[in-house]
Amino acid sequence: MSDNPADLSLGYFLAGEGNDPLSAPPSFTRWMQAGAWAVELYEPEMLASADARTAITYDGKPQSVINLCSYNYLGLANHPEVIAAAHDALTTHGLGACGSPMLSGMTDLHRELERKLAQFLGREDAMLFNSGFGGALGTISGLLRKSDVAVLDNRSHLSLRDGATLSRCRSEKFEHNDPVSLAASLGRNQGRRQLVVIEGIYSMDGDFGNLEALIDVADAHGASVFIDEAHSILGCGEHGRGAAEKFGVEDRVRLTYGTFSKAFGALGGFVAGSRETLQYLRFYSHPYVYSCALPPVMAAGILQALEIAIREPELRARLWENADYFHAQLRTLGIDTGTSTTYVMPLVIGDRERMYRLGHELRARGLWVAPVDYPAVPQDRICFRACVTALHTRTDLDEALNIIEDTLVPTARIAQSA
Ligand SMILES: Cc1ncc(COP(=O)(O)O)c(C=O)c1O
Repeated sequence: MSDNPADLSLGYFLAGEGNDPLSAPPSFTRWMQAGAWAVELYEPEMLASADARTAITYDGKPQSVINLCSYNYLGLANHPEVIAAAHDALTTHGLGACGSPMLSGMTDLHRELERKLAQFLGREDAMLFNSGFGGALGTISGLLRKSDVAVLDNRSHLSLRDGATLSRCRSEKFEHNDPVSLAASLGRNQGRRQLVVIEGIYSMDGDFGNLEALIDVADAHGASVFIDEAHSILGCGEHGRGAAEKFGVEDRVRLTYGTFSKAFGALGGFVAGSRETLQYLRFYSHPYVYSCALPPVMAAGILQALEIAIREPELRARLWENADYFHAQLRTLGIDTGTSTTYVMPLVIGDRERMYRLGHELRARGLWVAPVDYPAVPQDRICFRACVTALHTRTDLDEALNIIEDTLVPTARIAQSA
């Protein structure tokens, strides 16, 4: 192992060290200490709501920032009607659900949310999870069996890959968004039950899943398809039903999975589909059966968020206007945003040391973006991730662009000429 901390990454510390599994590997602790200035950018302490402008603790002090870091795509996390609905439910239903949905945690608010979601998505039924991660993991692991094959895009979210691992099925990967590579993967396991796992919007690259072409290939091989709509639900499609609606493939997939933690501005996950499939899943999905239900205040807030998202399509329109404007301006500045065409955008730096140095500069200047390091992205694609929302005003975006122009652009020019 190299002694230079800059050569190491999280991938280096997976082997156990010493004889006590409850102790962190000393080499990891030394690495963390050596890179403390970089680690400081993680787990930032937010001092207010996930609004377009908020405050975080930076350098030990409160710092006002333009927020390009939260998934509050439609601004529903801090919408007054959502807060009022949650407030009311807190009074009537208390704080926690205090039990698994299967035994005691299901309330009338949960049931109403199931019904309203199913109706919104045009499905027979919906079930709720206390996290998006648990929902993805629980759906994949609850439906796949040891003799099945999960065929995952190689940029798939960890919740999906962990779901496949837990089911103990065979896992195959195909090249990101590539129908030819998918066909090759499916061809290798012809004759077995196969589930193709893709995403509406990829959370690191901010590009759409190549849904139509990939579903064509899956159909041709008799495989089923699962789409993770975590980042696309409410944000995409004419009515907000996600990327499947946007690309006209809703009738070709039998489940809709999404999270409440992004455009809903809340917490939790859901899956919607046929009554029979979900009835089966309710008994075999470990994160559903063996974990406490969503807090009822959350169900009430989500119900209100859904009503607003249905009633006010202009929120979605504003989200896309802002995303398109920001993309166009970043292009003018020469910032590499990879294959993103959505409101999730990598700002590619490509060098770890430079990314962390710039990360501090950006925070000091009042712009909050997320650092994304290897192995979450390849070494040469180390980046910041910026998320634009419907809440951002033109002034917010222009101020963010000015900061980017003063910080990222000069260092990108120096890097190019080196
Ligand atoms: C594509 C994808 N799926 C699932 C999840 C898990 O969702 P949650 O954060 O709601 O647990 C995420 C979270 O970022 C995600 O990006």
